[in-house]
Amino acid sequence: MTEGAPAEAERVAGGRERVGVIGAGYVGLVTGVCLASMGYQVTLRDIDAAKVAALNDGQVPIYEPGLAELMEEHRERLTYTLSLERLLERSDIVFIAVDTPPSYSGDADLSRVMSVVDELEKVAGADARHVLVMKSTVPVGTGERVRAELDARGLADVGYCSNPEFLKEGAAIADFLRPDRVVIGSFDDAQGDRVAALYEPLGAPIIRTSVPSAEMVKYASNAFLATKISFINEIANVCEEVGADVDVVAAGMGLDSRIGRSFLRAGIGFGGSCFPKDVSALKQLAGNSGYHFQLLTSVIEVNELQKRRVIGKLKKHLGSLEGKRVALLGLAFKPGTDDMREASSLVLAARLLAEGAEVLAYDPVVDGGMDRLKGVAIRESAEEVVEGADAAVLVTEWDSIVGMDWAAVRESMRSPVLIDGRNALDPVEMMRLGYVFEGIGRLPAHVDVPS
Ligand code: UDX
Repeated sequence: MTEGAPAEAERVAGGRERVGVIGAGYVGLVTGVCLASMGYQVTLRDIDAAKVAALNDGQVPIYEPGLAELMEEHRERLTYTLSLERLLERSDIVFIAVDTPPSYSGDADLSRVMSVVDELEKVAGADARHVLVMKSTVPVGTGERVRAELDARGLADVGYCSNPEFLKEGAAIADFLRPDRVVIGSFDDAQGDRVAALYEPLGAPIIRTSVPSAEMVKYASNAFLATKISFINEIANVCEEVGADVDVVAAGMGLDSRIGRSFLRAGIGFGGSCFPKDVSALKQLAGNSGYHFQLLTSVIEVNELQKRRVIGKLKKHLGSLEGKRVALLGLAFKPGTDDMREASSLVLAARLLAEGAEVLAYDPVVDGGMDRLKGVAIRESAEEVVEGADAAVLVTEWDSIVGMDWAAVRESMRSPVLIDGRNALDPVEMMRLGYVFEGIGRLPAHVDVPS
């Protein structure tokens, strides 16, 4: 592979930047594979030897619809390596997509980001040709910190931009290739121009800004969406008290273009790898600067309580849950993913076990063996878990679960208590089938059941 000036000439001559991605996790893989599908040469680097070997073998370590196919289709443009030096040789624009998990204090743990900076200092090859592009969600101020570290370590020529990701699991490829917007924060316009040019073929609006503003767009967006969910969940809880139907209320609200229809689905709370972590991190970030972000404190608390409300609903119909068999339909934090991070099902299952219930669960993608699901009997089919159950809870609205033969399910249950934790089922239909049915914010008492 060419290096230094020849590589620059090759880039300019070819008119195409070559891309590197550090961290072949969820965000890194989707970013790398999508950029390869746009025609860029992409080198992905990970420190996990088993993962790199698997990727080189054509295996996809995560479940994301369409990813395996796209990876296979553009395999010739994708290189996987353990070596940072090799990545630097083969790339111009280098995305950083390493984990930034929450630390005990609630602050984002930046150790993996900082170890990339350490490594860049040690290995040869990082130079003016390279622009580092932060994809990982990092607290506002991180870019300035990384810039200062690079400068202090003799890497002042290496560029730095912030380019937050807005990928939804299960729809990540479409989100990447057809984004609502691309946000690029830069210290130096020319570096920002190079990153912007990479995305130009997508035809999406590109927002150019400072590095701290770009970092903040990501946190503010996720915190706002999480707030919308906790808001509609509280509206749902009030609907239950006053006899309104939250689905109709949300539809009525959503038609106001200032409010918008999305993210107004009431349910048993948000989970996943982003919302819980990012909302806490923003709250923490504000707190560290002396500002108490009161609203976010409530958003988090409402979400925690929402996961537990199903227990009250079950007790209302079954009395004590001691010895009762409860079927959980779905475990993942949402359909289309096998991700269990912060899934509402984890809290729900633990609460049910603590109440003495026997808990059975089925998910089309998640299997057993998880420590956090200890005590939960995972079965191979939805039919097996509902058989003989005293109650069933729809936890994740997978199509295959929503589309089950609910008349047959009703027949196989010991008692027909059904809690729809995602408001995915038709209450009228379920009651007609003989269920003792509850959704979230949709009290059966207020639904007219045709005889
Ligand atoms: C989210 C953001 O959407 C994405 O932009 C960001 O980059 C990462 O975090 P993701 O975690 O994949 O993406 O999931 P998303 O589809 O946004 O759902 C998050 C959670 O909110 C799920 O548990 C979902 O069930 C819940 N949710 C979503 C609701 O309860 N109600 C809604 O109306 C929408």
